[in-house]
Amino acid sequence: MVLKFHNEIITIDSWRPDETYDGVFPKGAREKEVYFSPDNPKPTCIKSDWRYLFKLSRSRSWCPWQFWVEVIAYRLGCLIDVPVPPAYVGLNRQYQTGEDTYGALIEWFYDERKDMYIEGGQFMGQLIKNYDRKKGIQHNWELLSRLKDFIPDTIEYWAGVFTLDSLIGNTDRHQDNWGWILKGAKQNPEDYKLSYSPAFDNGTALGYEIREKDFVKYQDGNRLNRYLTHPQRARHHMKWSLNEREPINFYEFVRKFVVQFPKAKPIMEGHLSFSREQAKETLEPLPEMVTDKRCRLTRKRLDFMLDLIFKRKKLLEETLEQCGS
Ligand SMILES: Nc1ncnc2c1ncn2[C@@H]1O[C@H](COP(=O)(O)OP(=O)(O)O)[C@@H](O)[C@H]1O
Ligand SMILES: [Mg+2]
Repeated sequence: MVLKFHNEIITIDSWRPDETYDGVFPKGAREKEVYFSPDNPKPTCIKSDWRYLFKLSRSRSWCPWQFWVEVIAYRLGCLIDVPVPPAYVGLNRQYQTGEDTYGALIEWFYDERKDMYIEGGQFMGQLIKNYDRKKGIQHNWELLSRLKDFIPDTIEYWAGVFTLDSLIGNTDRHQDNWGWILKGAKQNPEDYKLSYSPAFDNGTALGYEIREKDFVKYQDGNRLNRYLTHPQRARHHMKWSLNEREPINFYEFVRKFVVQFPKAKPIMEGHLSFSREQAKETLEPLPEMVTDKRCRLTRKRLDFMLDLIFKRKKLLEETLEQCGS
C-alpha cells in the first residue's frame, strides 16, 4: 500500500479563531490555538469548516523544531496502522506580527456539535481518591486493563498505543492524553458509539530535547543504550500498577503486557511490520518543506529520529520474541 501525504505548508492566516477554546479545554504545556477551517478549503486533506489545533513547539526559544514530532508521529501512525489525528505543517503569519509562525496543524478528532468527549483524567479522578491530575502519578495500567470487560477493543487500543509510544519514546501519555469519544451522544444521549480517542499529543518524543550539536554524543553505544532503555526516562508515563516499586522501561512494560494478554503479541507484531525504506519514503519530503533556518526539520535530525525509531523497533521485536507464541 502506498501512503499519500500532503507535503506542502498549510497557511492559516485567514482561518477563523475559535474563541471558546481557552475556557473549555485544559491548557497543556504548549502554546496552542484553535481555528476553524474555511468552507471548501484548498488542500483536499483539510476538512471543511472543521476545528483544528495549531500547536507550537514547547519552548520556541530552545526547541523550535518540536512541532515536527506531531507531524512525524501522524505519518508513522499511518504506517503502522495506529490511529493518530492528522497533523500537517501549518503557517500562521497573524500569530505574531511580522513573523512567520510554524506549528503542527492538527485535525480535531470528534465533532463538537454531535459527539461528546471524556478525558482519561476525568475517569481516573472518579476511581482514585485524591487523584493528582497535574502529575498523574496514580495513572496505572492495572486499573485501566480492567476496562477490557466494559469498553470495546481496550486491549487492541493499548496494544497500538503502547507500540507507537515505545517506538517514538513518548514519555507523556498521561491520563489527559487519551480519552473516549461518545459518537452521536449530543444528538442522542441514549444511542451513541463509544470508542477510544486516537493517540494525540505525541510531541514529547523522538529526541526533540536533544540539540543537533549533541547528536554525536549518541554515537557512544553506552550512552545511546542508556537513553533508549534507562527505566527512569525510557518509560511510559503510565505505571504498571499503583504499588509499582521501581519504574520499568518501555520494553519491560510491553513484555508484561503481552504476558498478561497474549493476544496482544500478534497485534503488536503487525504494527511493527514496516521497513526502514517505507519509513524513509513517508518522512523524506519533510525536510524540504520549511526553509526557515530556526524551525526547519534538518535532514540530520530526521536521520537521527529514524535511527532512534529503528533501534527501539529492534528492542521491541526482541522483547516480543522472548514472550514465546
Ligand atoms: N486533535 C484533537 N482533537 C480534539 N481534542 C484535542 C485534540 N488535540 C488536543 N485536544 C484537546 O486539547 C487538549 C490539549 O492538547 P494537547 O495536544 O494534549 O496539548 P499539550 O501538549 O499542551 O498537553 C487535550 O488534552 C485535548 O483535550
Ligand atoms: Mg496533552
